[in-house]
Amino acid sequence: MPIQSRLSGSPDIDSGLLKLIEQDWIKCLKGWWPDNLNHYLITKYQVDITARYAGQSIANPFGKASGQLTMNIGQIRESAQAGLGFVVLKTLIAQNAMGHQSMSAWSIPESKMQVEPITGQSGRSGWTITWKGRGWSRSFEDYIQLCRDSFEISMETGLIVAPSVKFHLPANLDEKWYISEYEYTLNALAKAWQGAGGQSLLIVEKDFSPTLAGDQLGKQEKLIERWLTEITSVIRNATSEQLTLGIKLFNFVGDHEYQNEILRICLDDSCKPDFLVYANRLFNPNKTFEGVAGVAYGGPDLSDRNLAILTRCRPETTQSNVEISGTGDIDSGRTAVEYGLLGCSSVQMHTIFQIPTDIPASAGLSRTRKTLATLVFHPVHGLTGWLLHARRHWGLCNESGLSKWMGLKDLKMQPLEAAD
Ligand SMILES: Cc1cc2nc3c(=O)[nH]c(=O)nc-3n(C[C@H](O)[C@H](O)[C@H](O)COP(=O)(O)O)c2cc1C
Repeated sequence: MPIQSRLSGSPDIDSGLLKLIEQDWIKCLKGWWPDNLNHYLITKYQVDITARYAGQSIANPFGKASGQLTMNIGQIRESAQAGLGFVVLKTLIAQNAMGHQSMSAWSIPESKMQVEPITGQSGRSGWTITWKGRGWSRSFEDYIQLCRDSFEISMETGLIVAPSVKFHLPANLDEKWYISEYEYTLNALAKAWQGAGGQSLLIVEKDFSPTLAGDQLGKQEKLIERWLTEITSVIRNATSEQLTLGIKLFNFVGDHEYQNEILRICLDDSCKPDFLVYANRLFNPNKTFEGVAGVAYGGPDLSDRNLAILTRCRPETTQSNVEISGTGDIDSGRTAVEYGLLGCSSVQMHTIFQIPTDIPASAGLSRTRKTLATLVFHPVHGLTGWLLHARRHWGLCNESGLSKWMGLKDLKMQPLEAAD
């Protein structure tokens, strides 16, 4: 059965299996959780949700994206206890040894977040978060301490933790890169990593944010091309530490053609990072929030655009073997499957952790665990049902009889035609 458009409705699976998922979901509503989620899903459903982020194996594809939910150690601990695959810390604004931050405009104090329903151009409804903060606004030392503490949790629990950084970007084609900001920041992160006993490579996400896309500079195609073609080597050359480097891409305020180009540039062998995060929120220059004109937004238009671009670039993404972590309106296991079919080996979310959940407070689960339970076990839009749908309709089944999340991207099928 080819997939003609965005997935919708319930998975079409054997009624006996559906009944089992429904029973599990009812147990989740009362606070149940299996001792070992992966083992449970493999033995009960022959479904394997093991995934990959930044070149490492993770228990499941779900991570917390960089933002307000990864700013303190309590949030990181809760993510580990809930069983998420990974977390990306709030974006730090890079600085040099003198404390100079050329991107200081992005370091403004956080404000109240407004969680709002939103209807996309397709008529689909979803959620977006409006606020006027940007990157980490506390001290550089505080951020390094957060890294140290989070890395320790990572060592204890296996939760993968990645810092995120916004580094200086030249404002025109001739300006030099402020290498001292790269060096100082990367070396401080590397020290924190080593101090915590990090064995594998330090992971760093370089954030090109949606507010940057709304900035005048983010509209200059030649300049963007320069940033993208040079950034990987600028970062690598700024530290003697070997990194697993991810570039988090923005959504260009403009047409799809150049957005395709942005993704293609990053897949080129000459400048590709280890992984990409695709892609941060859209930007609305006309909306004003708390006196600030121009806000980033998400919801269905974001997933429609991201899936449309990933569909168009599928030949290149498949060939390039750059790992992709999807982000943008991943509001269910079903949407995660859409990203998975288009090559994403993990998905990272922010909004879903803040919207209302079906699981009542009386269940006694943490907010993160409630979200994970919904992502995995919801009978209509959970991952388990949709992987079983993929088994039944698209042949997602390996030689051991397992339907694997990681197998989605290899399915030989007509790809999703996401709305343009
Ligand atoms: C309140 C808020 C703060 C965010 N802060 C950051 C940030 O500091 N760095 C970053 O790379 N992305 C940031 N993001 C983007 C998220 O990491 C995520 O990629 C994006 O919101 C799309 O996922 P979602 O649709 O699940 O929210 C932020 C998003 C929100 C809503």
